[in-house]
Parts: sequence; structure tokens; C-alpha cells
Amino acid sequence: MQPLVVIPHTLSEITGPQFNENDVSPQVFDLTKQHKGEPLGERIVLSGRVLDEDARPIAHTLVEVWQANAAGRYLHDKDRHDAPIDPNFTGVGRAFTDQDGRYRFLTIKPGAYPWNNSLNGWRPAHIHFSLFGPAWATRLITQMYFPGDPLLALDPIFHSVSDEGARRRLVSTYDPELSQHERQVLHHVLPAEGVALTWLAGHLGLPKSTTSVLVKSLAGRGYVERSRDPGDERRLAIRLTDKGRQVVEADTVLRPDALAKAMAKLDARTRAALLEGLEKLATAAESS
Ligand SMILES: [Fe+2]
Repeated sequence: MQPLVVIPHTLSEITGPQFNENDVSPQVFDLTKQHKGEPLGERIVLSGRVLDEDARPIAHTLVEVWQANAAGRYLHDKDRHDAPIDPNFTGVGRAFTDQDGRYRFLTIKPGAYPWNNSLNGWRPAHIHFSLFGPAWATRLITQMYFPGDPLLALDPIFHSVSDEGARRRLVSTYDPELSQHERQVLHHVLPAEGVALTWLAGHLGLPKSTTSVLVKSLAGRGYVERSRDPGDERRLAIRLTDKGRQVVEADTVLRPDALAKAMAKLDARTRAALLEGLEKLATAAESS
């Protein structure tokens, strides 16, 4: 048997297209908001980190996902499965990783679908991933699965990965730590440091009692802290802790760095006014 021959990489292998945030519009990471109506299905937050073979984070790399809808149907001519197409779901998303290699999508859980590999063979629910990396040769296309899916045991594509540990890493884990509503609270608190409960409830569009429960729960787990407002001793001000700030920063990986830096230079009042203006603009755009 001959030993393998090492062929040195050339420019074609060690270089690739340089993407930037201009290639990704803000709504592309949210697959539930790409159409006028709401897609059917179970909402999920899909997040993770891109790491290299030495577990070092890959910053600012393009992550693309594509998937079937909740009924297990792709929006593709070749998909002949007679499950319904969802007019409010395309099933394609794109995002960049942050400095720690983190990415995040909002989507719906895809359904399983039949394929012609065997008489009654069904693919387990999965989401396709493309992780680009720094060059053409580093692009990895793979699939992510869901825990507890009985179809995994029968799936030849899943079992084509022979290493058990590597197979386990293809299956996502459920993180019960923060709900989407709780994340929204953190996002609203960040730009207007030291907000009152009434202000927060108004901006979230939630009853004050519900907002109070959310804030209390977040404070109990160390994401926000409540203290007397120095400007008005009768008022409790809600602020992010470092832990809460980290969550918001990880969620905002899609925003261009330059914009985040410029925002940080603004004083709290200007940031709050800007946010309010943008919300009014978004509301006006939605109703037009
Ligand atoms: Fe698929």
C-alpha cells in the first residue's frame, strides 16, 4: 500500500469570499418574520458556537441554515411530499458569528418527512447547516437534529457519522434558562439603563403584573438588578447585570460592529430617544 501523498494547499484552498454584514439583512436570522403572516409550528431559538478543531472560536464567519416547514415540506420544486406548503415560511436563514463564534436564529421546529430510501423510511427532523470558515476548503455542510427523536436510531445519514461522540454533537440540547419574553426584557433594559417597571411594561406591550413577574424572575437568576433611582427615591430602577449584558451582546451579533460602537458613544437619554424613534418607524412601516 502506498502512503498518502500530501498536496500543499494553494491560494484556491486557503482563500474564499469575504462576506460582510451588508450581505445579511436584519430579518434573515429570524425565519419567523420573513413574510406578512406568522408561520405555523413550534417556535425555537437556534443558537450555538462555531469552533475550530482546537475548540477556538471562529469569529465573523457566515452561518447559513435551511429546513423544511413544520409539516415536513421544503419550499422546493423537487419536494413531492404531499404535506402542505406554508406561505409564511421559506425556511432559509443566514447570520454571522460574533467574536466568541456565537450565532443565533429564530425559527420553527421542522417536521420529519418521508424519503424514498426505503418503503416507509422517514428522515428525523433536522436543520441543514453551512459553516463557511475562512476559505473555500473550510466550508462544512452538516445537519442538526433534535433530542429524543425515535427516527434517529433508523436514519442512515445520521449513522454515516461513525464516531459516537461526533454523532452526539449533531443532536441539539434544550436550554431552559431564558424564554424569548425574558430576552425581550433584557433587550429593552439595555439601551435605557435604569428603567422603571411602568416604562418597561409599556414598551413591551405587556401588563405591568406580567412584566413584574418577568423582572422578578430575571433578578432572581442574576440577569437584572433593581435599585432606588437616585433621581427619584420612590422609584425602583431596573438595570442589567454583567450576566444580562452578555446575553444581549450575544444576541446582537448581526449588527455591524461600527453601529454598536457608535451607539455606545451616545448618552443614555439619546439612546432611549433613538430607540423610541426606531420603534415608531417600525410600527409605521408595518401599518403602511
Ligand atoms: Fe433535509
